[in-house]
Amino acid sequence: MTRAPFTIRNGREDDLPYLNAYAFAEGMDSLPSAEAVRVAVNDEDVPVGFLRIRRGDDGVAHVNPVVTCATWRGWGVGRALVEEALERFGELRLVARGESIPFYRALGFQELGWDDIASPIASECDGCEMYGECQPLPMGRRLP
Ligand SMILES: CC(C)(COP(=O)(O)OP(=O)(O)OC[C@H]1O[C@@H](n2cnc3c(N)ncnc32)[C@H](O)[C@@H]1OP(=O)(O)O)[C@@H](O)C(=O)NCCC(=O)NCCS
Repeated sequence: MTRAPFTIRNGREDDLPYLNAYAFAEGMDSLPSAEAVRVAVNDEDVPVGFLRIRRGDDGVAHVNPVVTCATWRGWGVGRALVEEALERFGELRLVARGESIPFYRALGFQELGWDDIASPIASECDGCEMYGECQPLPMGRRLP
């Protein structure tokens, strides 16, 4: 399959208008900064997707979130961002929105319990009015 050209680099403050527009379109909160953010950029260095890592108290890296710009979906951007993070951290956990569960399953993630998720991240779903529609699922993958 032909792959669209993109590369991955550290996020920068001047990327935030793009990243927050992509987050907003998904009903997600804005990123407070570019810290712990990796971005996929096109051949003009324009962000087409991003992944942010948040660490739990136990140090485990959590994906929160990964988003690909709608027009770039299906070109391997999300997979590349997640696999690169997995290589760096060795283990990733997250709460998958119901719609994104097939994506994470395609990447080899498996179901976890809510207790496996860092509490500030797990608690984001507490009382959310979209819970029933979203059907979030704790998931994770660890490299052998
Ligand atoms: C989930 C998301 C990040 C996927 O990004 P993407 O760049 O389109 O994903 P990729 O092109 O890298 O796809 C990787 C694999 O997942 C599969 N996949 C992706 N979305 C899928 C879906 N909805 N159903 C089934 N499979 C899916 C692809 O077929 C691909 O499989 P392959 O590599 O074996 O061929 C993107 O759809 C998105 O930004 N969604 C909105 C935000 C969101 O829900 N983020 C996740 C919650 S934190």
